[in-house]
Formats: sequence, C-alpha cells, structure tokens
Amino acid sequence: MKPREKRIQAVRIEFRDQRTPYSPLFQDIYFSTSTGVEESSYVYLEGSGFMDSLQNKTQKISVGEIGFGVGLNFILTLKNFIEHSSHEQRLTYYSFEKFPVVKEDLYQLYDAYPDLKPTAELLLSQYPVLTPGVHLLIFLGGRVKLYLGLGDAQALLPQMEFTVNHWYWDGFAPSRNPDAFSEGLFHEIALHSNHHTQGASFTAAGWVRRSLELLSFQIAKRPGFGQKRECITATFLGSQKPSRTPPWFSNQELKLAHPDAGPIAIIGSGLAGSAIAQVLAKRGFRIQIYDPNGVANRASSNSAALFNTQLSKLPNPISRFSQASLVHFLSELEHLHIPNKRGILRTDHTETDPLLNSDYPDSFYKLDERGIFFPDCGMLNPRELCKKRLLHHLISVIPERVAGVKKIGEDFELTLQSGKTSEPVAHVIYALGADPKLSDQEKLTHPLLDTLPTRPIRGQTVLIQSNPLSETLKTVLVEEGYASPLAPEITGHPYHLLGATYQAKGIAENQEEMDSEKLIQEAKRWPELSEVEVKDLISSKVGYRLSTPDKLPLIGPLCDPEVLKSTYAHAFRGSKVSDLPALPVCKGEWLITGLGSRGVTYSSLAAEILAALMTGDTLPIEMDLFEHLHSARFFIRNLKKPELNSNS
Ligand SMILES: Cc1cc2nc3c(=O)[nH]c(=O)nc-3n(C[C@H](O)[C@H](O)[C@H](O)COP(=O)(O)OP(=O)(O)OC[C@H]3O[C@@H](n4cnc5c(N)ncnc54)[C@H](O)[C@@H]3O)c2cc1C
Ligand SMILES: C[S@@+](CC[C@H](N)C(=O)[O-])C[C@H]1O[C@@H](n2cnc3c(N)ncnc32)[C@H](O)[C@@H]1O
Repeated sequence: MKPREKRIQAVRIEFRDQRTPYSPLFQDIYFSTSTGVEESSYVYLEGSGFMDSLQNKTQKISVGEIGFGVGLNFILTLKNFIEHSSHEQRLTYYSFEKFPVVKEDLYQLYDAYPDLKPTAELLLSQYPVLTPGVHLLIFLGGRVKLYLGLGDAQALLPQMEFTVNHWYWDGFAPSRNPDAFSEGLFHEIALHSNHHTQGASFTAAGWVRRSLELLSFQIAKRPGFGQKRECITATFLGSQKPSRTPPWFSNQELKLAHPDAGPIAIIGSGLAGSAIAQVLAKRGFRIQIYDPNGVANRASSNSAALFNTQLSKLPNPISRFSQASLVHFLSELEHLHIPNKRGILRTDHTETDPLLNSDYPDSFYKLDERGIFFPDCGMLNPRELCKKRLLHHLISVIPERVAGVKKIGEDFELTLQSGKTSEPVAHVIYALGADPKLSDQEKLTHPLLDTLPTRPIRGQTVLIQSNPLSETLKTVLVEEGYASPLAPEITGHPYHLLGATYQAKGIAENQEEMDSEKLIQEAKRWPELSEVEVKDLISSKVGYRLSTPDKLPLIGPLCDPEVLKSTYAHAFRGSKVSDLPALPVCKGEWLITGLGSRGVTYSSLAAEILAALMTGDTLPIEMDLFEHLHSARFFIRNLKKPELNSNS
C-alpha cells in the first residue's frame, strides 16, 4: 500500500561552503554567510519596529513570522531580547514553516556561528519532533514564548487566535515561492494585525506591495541591504477584525488568573493535577494542591506507565492530540531529568500496515522484523513524574481530602474532610480522576461534577517473576497489552510489569484472579516471555481510568449544562454563530480530567492548554483540535444535535 503523503515534509539543507545554508527545494539560500546576520537584523528586527519596541521597554512584544527557515531571525530576536530587555518585558513570537529543517542540520549550521551558538542551543534543546500543527516552546522561565506552527501558514493562521505588533515576511524570493506572498496569506496576516502593526520584507516586488496596500497596509520603501536596491516596511492602518472564535471558546466570560490575585487550589495530585500545578507555578502562581492519599496514589500510581503513540490511517482528533501531546511530553521529559526507559516495540503493526501512514517523521520509527520500533517512546514511573513536577517553591502539597467548595464573593473556600477550611483561593481546578470505590461521605460534593459525561474504566496490571529468557527482554513490548523489561531503577522492583486490562462493566467477583491469568497467558505470545507461568505472579493491582465518550480529555471551564441550555436554547437553529452570547461558565472553576488510558502523554499538553485559557494566552494547539478537548463540548454538541445525544 502506498503511504499517504504526510501533512508536512521535513527537509535537509545543503551547505554551500561550511556556513551558507541552501534549500535544494527552493533552490535558494536561507541567508548569505558574509552578511546574513546584519541583513536580517536590518531588514526584519529594525524594519518591523521590533528593536524600537525592545528599546522603548514595551512590556508585551509580539512578533509574527512567515518562514521560520533555519531560525536565524528568531535566534537574533531572542539574542537581542536576552541582551537588552528589562525583567518586566515579555516576548511572544509566532512563526510558521511549511518545510521545517531537521535538527541535525541546524546544529551543524550554528556550529559555524560561535556568536549565535548559545542562543541557537536554547532553541535546539527544545526543537520539536517535526509533526504538523502548533508547538509551544518556552524560554527564559516563561518570559519568551515561541509558537512554532508547522504547516502552510495560510492554513494554520485561521486556526490560531492572536495578533502581533511586528511581522517578518521572510519567504524565499516571491518569484520562487509565491505561496509565501499570496493575497490569501496577506488577508490572514491583516486579520492577525493591530492598528499600526508594522511588517517588514526584503522584497519590494510591485505585486507584493499592491496586495498589502489593498489590505490597508501603508508601504514605505527603505534602501535595501548591501547590494540590494530596496526593501519595504508596511504599517497596518486597518482596524482589528472581530474574533472568529466561536462564542463557547471565547474567553470573554472567563475569570482570568493573575499571580497577584491569591493562590490557586488544585484538587487531586495525579498526572493531571501535578501537570497543571507545574505549569502554573512556572508562570508565577502560588499553588495549593490537595490530596488525602499523598502524591499520585490512585490511577497514577503504577510502578511503570508508557508514553506511546496512537496511530491512525487518517488524521483524526485522537491521533492529532495524541501526536501533539506526545511531542510536547518528550520535550518536558528532556528537561525534567527523570529516569525513563526508551524504546517501544509494537508487535501489532507491520511494514504494510496502513496505520503506518502517520504524520510522524520517518526518523521517529524503524521497521523491525517483529513490528515497528519507536525509539523515543518508552516507560517511566508516573508517581515519580508527579513528584518531580511538584518540586517548586510556589507549590504546597496539602494531604487533605476536599469535601466541598464554597464560593465567597469572587473567591472560593474549600471545606476539608478534617473539618478545617482553606484560606480563600482565587481559582479551583478539579483534577480528581476516577475513584468508584469512594463512599458518598468521602466524595467531593459538587452537583456539577456529577453532570460530566465521564465513566470509570477498570484496569489491572500484574508483576511477575523473571526467568533467564525473560531477562533478555530489553525493550517494552506492546500488542493488545504491554510487557516491561526489568528496570528496577524506574519501577523500584525486580519484576516484569504486564498490563493492562480495560473493562467498564460486568466485573466478576473473581475478576482480579481471572485478569492476572489472562495477562500472563497473553504475555506468552512474545518469545522472551514464552516461559512465564501463572505461578510466577508476584502481585496484581487494580486502578480506574476516567474516560469520556470520545476518549479525549475535558479541559477548560466548569459549566452548568442547565445554564448553558437556557443561554443557547433556541440559538443554534438559524442564528449566526458570531451573534451568540459567550459561553456561560462557573467563573474561576476549571477542569482537567478524563485522561483515560493516556495520562502520561496527555497531561503535559492538557496542562499548557488549561494554563493558556486561564491566563488569556494563545492556545498551544489549533482551534479545530481544541473543539475536541473543550470541557463543555458534550453539552454544546447535545444542544446542536439533540438527536445525537453523545452524553448517553
Ligand atoms: C491499569 C492502568 C494502566 C495504565 N497505564 C497507562 C500507561 O501505560 N500510560 C498512560 O499514559 N496512562 C496509563 N493509564 C492511565 C493513567 O494512569 C491515567 O490517565 C492517569 O493516572 C489519570 O490521572 P489523574 O490525575 O486524572 O487521576 P488520578 O491519578 O486518579 O488522580 C486523581 C487524584 O485525585 C485525588 N482526589 C480524589 N478526590 C479527592 C478529593 N475530594 N480531595 C482531594 N483529592 C482527591 C485522588 O486521591 C487522586 O490522587 C493507566 C491506567 C490504569 C488504571
Ligand atoms: C528565506 S526562508 C526563511 C528564513 C528564516 N526566516 C530564518 O530566519 O532562517 C523562507 C522559508 O519560508 C518557508 N515557506 C515557504 N512557503 C511557506 C508557506 N506557505 N508557509 C510557511 N512557510 C513557508 C520555506 O520553507 C523557507 O523555510
């Protein structure tokens, strides 16, 4: 079967002499060796007004770029920001690249530029696996954010809600690459500009100028750099257009979080709670995280859990989110320094499997005679991950069960099972996971949590004694279930872990015993484990995942479905979406839950998404994907199509 074309194509650069990067695809150089740095600084950093904003101490500086290329403009912008900004200044940089360059080539390139190398290394240490969509990279403890959109700029821009004050229009020569200067793209650029936003380009081609003028940009020619005759700057004199975001995703009704407005309470310290705690603490928020069971003692407490891929023939919301979150998680892992074992061999897929037609770059997997090997996927101890995430001076872990949440004015007070109450908190985040064994007295009383379309799914794992043959296993094996190699440095024990069953209902009395046997019998399919026997069972463990009908998490504000119904009751039939009121939310109450079977992989991007919503930042994923993650999506779908009641 012919593989489907990937949605983006990673490219190699050629080196003309050691220092000049050349694109065989566009048959053009990215920048010239002798003058590249000065030229980029002159044309873009100065021409777009970025340097003025930096020097004038503008607090929030935003830059957009068409053509990330080899990242020179970004590196120069970041370097200037590091050298000249004051502590209050922030930089948000949005860049789009249809043909991203592979990391090894960028390392090789910047080796030849010692002045730029330290800044280039900051970028390259976070450079993502080259998959389509938005990637968020964070620098200088959050003072600089890079949203790197991989794919066609014109297709990605409508999927992102932001405006910038400076634009770098840096496609190759318009004659070689008209796509990067098309009317459609400039139309999108105008929609992402503010009144007086300034753009710069090295080209002064007549049709480029005319396209810009038609969109209310006022053009000024500047002398070109070096031998070049002219380049342009353009000032947007139009007005900002109304948001295209559907009202239920707009942040109009949200209570935005501010570090000075009091602490934030998180209920639950599993993968979900610890991820959002870490992300918010890094942004300067004081966090109180409540859990009576100590850190990660429920679903997130297995001695090992996998971070794995989800493949699909065609991109769908699950494969897209699983891909985006895996790539984001791998970047988190790079910086957390927590023991992990890389390499997953999936024996359920073969060379001819259509599932292989994924958007991962070819370097992300290797065909093996037994299946497909993913060198970057692997396993770790999820509790250790949660503990590491919570090591921050702004996070306090409070070993208490929360019994109730009371609204006091704009703030909240938590009633604890011990009878105490919390200090007032500005926001509450519910990261409770599933615990069907809790009695009614132990459950957190909150009527709205009971309206969520989630259900617990029982899962069992077993530990088994190794034998000389099983000890030859060096990598995680995955088919329907999974088997771990011995890895005491991760698991804290000298056994193999076999997992995991998946069962929502029909739990038999002797289920645990039946499942242990089943897991051991199934593991025998792998040659290394062919000699394990039921007598090798050391222990079994049952846990509960919290799943949603579409198997994607719930991320966003807590909502009351009845208020939502009355707000939108008749609105969906016949009304223009833009005329509908903003989503009514429970201000200051948030959800990050329903991580299902993929809490390790999903939690870190889910947390970035929630933090972006809470602080009014641009989302780190495309809007059409966020629609499949929003906490109120089932309620909204039910209102739009009552006959398709996905809640049932
Ligand atoms: C058998 C099994 C195998 C799995 N394998 C994998 C895997 O290989 N890879 C993977 O990515 N995922 C795996 N998962 C899924 C993963 O474990 C979950 O997605 C993840 O643990 C969910 O995290 P959470 O934080 O939402 O929930 P939890 O980890 O359950 O955390 C919720 C926390 O909330 C606390 N809490 C509840 N009520 C209150 C209250 N009233 N007050 C204060 N605190 C409260 C609980 O004590 C608990 O610690 C597996 C799950 C199971 C069951
Ligand atoms: C001259 S290079 C950019 C150099 C880059 N600004 C730098 O500082 O390294 C032009 C880039 O535009 C990219 N490009 C071309 N068409 C594009 C499109 N439609 N969307 C996004 N990127 C595009 C090319 O792949 C190429 O990497």
